Amino acid sequence: MSLALNTKHLSSFINEEEYKAIYPQVEAAHKTLEAKNGPGSDFLGWMYLPRDYDKEEFERIKAAAAKIREDSDVLVVAGIGGSYLGARAVIEAVKGMYHNELDNGLKIYFCGNSISPTYLNDIIALCKGKRFSINVISKSGTTTETSLAFRVLRRLLEDEMGVEEANKRIYATTDRARGTLKSLADREGWQTFVIPDDVGGRYSVLTAVGLLPMAVAGIDIDAVLRGAQKAMTELANEDFTANACYRYAAIRNILLRRGKAIEIYASYEPRFTQMGEWLKQLYGESEGKDGKGLFPASVAFTTDLHSMGQFIQDGSRNLFETVIDFITPAADLTVEEDPENLDGLNFLSGMAMRQINRRAMQGTILAHTRGGVPNLVLEVPAINEEEYGYMVYFFMLACGISGYLLGVNPFDQPGVEAYKKNMFALLGKPGYEDLRQELLEKLGE
Ligand code: PA5
Repeated sequence: MSLALNTKHLSSFINEEEYKAIYPQVEAAHKTLEAKNGPGSDFLGWMYLPRDYDKEEFERIKAAAAKIREDSDVLVVAGIGGSYLGARAVIEAVKGMYHNELDNGLKIYFCGNSISPTYLNDIIALCKGKRFSINVISKSGTTTETSLAFRVLRRLLEDEMGVEEANKRIYATTDRARGTLKSLADREGWQTFVIPDDVGGRYSVLTAVGLLPMAVAGIDIDAVLRGAQKAMTELANEDFTANACYRYAAIRNILLRRGKAIEIYASYEPRFTQMGEWLKQLYGESEGKDGKGLFPASVAFTTDLHSMGQFIQDGSRNLFETVIDFITPAADLTVEEDPENLDGLNFLSGMAMRQINRRAMQGTILAHTRGGVPNLVLEVPAINEEEYGYMVYFFMLACGISGYLLGVNPFDQPGVEAYKKNMFALLGKPGYEDLRQELLEKLGE
């Protein structure tokens, strides 16, 4: 069994006629993706990657991971956006949020995803005196956050281990031929892995971008790709009722057209938290453009029922929830009887915590639905590599279809440039002199 879409709580929000009306548009959007004749069609390499991936590079990824596990106590992954979120999401989901503390072996830390000196100093402290390796990931090879962190960590590695040994411990995942990182890697002799030209950052989790850190973490990357390949085959089905991806894309667009402009990804499994971050990037960057798009948010329940729960139940009615329901948790516990029952919890005695969590989910879905928040449920059988492979492919395909339904190019991100230009101008980067003057005046400096 794989991911299934449960729409029973949507019946009071969407009727059959609405599904029927949108279906031809969904099918057309999917056909446009397959025919590669829509906007951004140069970036559709992810669609068949689970089958057509580079087998030779895949073996090199496994070999590099084995070497890193053998010769390192720490792997630092430097990357931002699509160049780190997917790997982190899968590692934390499958290995657990505390895998670094619980596993005796190698630790994995992520950096280059902010410009905070405090954060980078923490990473330095975690690496100092340890046998560490660096996986620097950047498709463009020029991203400021990543390049800055990498410059600092590379120096630390060279200082601690010498230049020759450091060069054996740096792994660069970047463009096949272009960019500063690729040139540097070639000059220094670092091992390189390729982000294919036709795969954009946020669609790159099934390339070396995601697979190398995953393999180092001990994730079975064959199983990840197997799950993704299964999704690729099953979701090619054009039968609307059988294709969960079609229905998911349809539902979110129907709801958006009704003014439900915020989609909240909710899970009752804290291990899903980073996947929420990956989803926010995937959908936010793909759809939020030309004045359009759903704003993606994420919550971890029941934790956030004690914070965001109030708003969802009772605040502005422009929301809907996509609940990711992991049917079988990675581990379970049974509540024991307490003869004194001072905490009053004996009514739960003998129950598995997964049952309690499920009841909390069901109760919340009913409450939120009653409060005017449509809820759709994506049922995922288990938290493992294969299901995650399936799920990331599902969401990427749904995103491509949804983007075309919305009428945007889901594969570009022109809006990201605005902050970069201002930042470069304010930092005095050559070529930005006029803009710098204008911005400094605005800042009153
Ligand atoms: O989806 C995208 O393209 C972006 O989010 C990128 O992944 C992110 O900006 C990092 O870019 P790069 O890999 O070039 O450093």
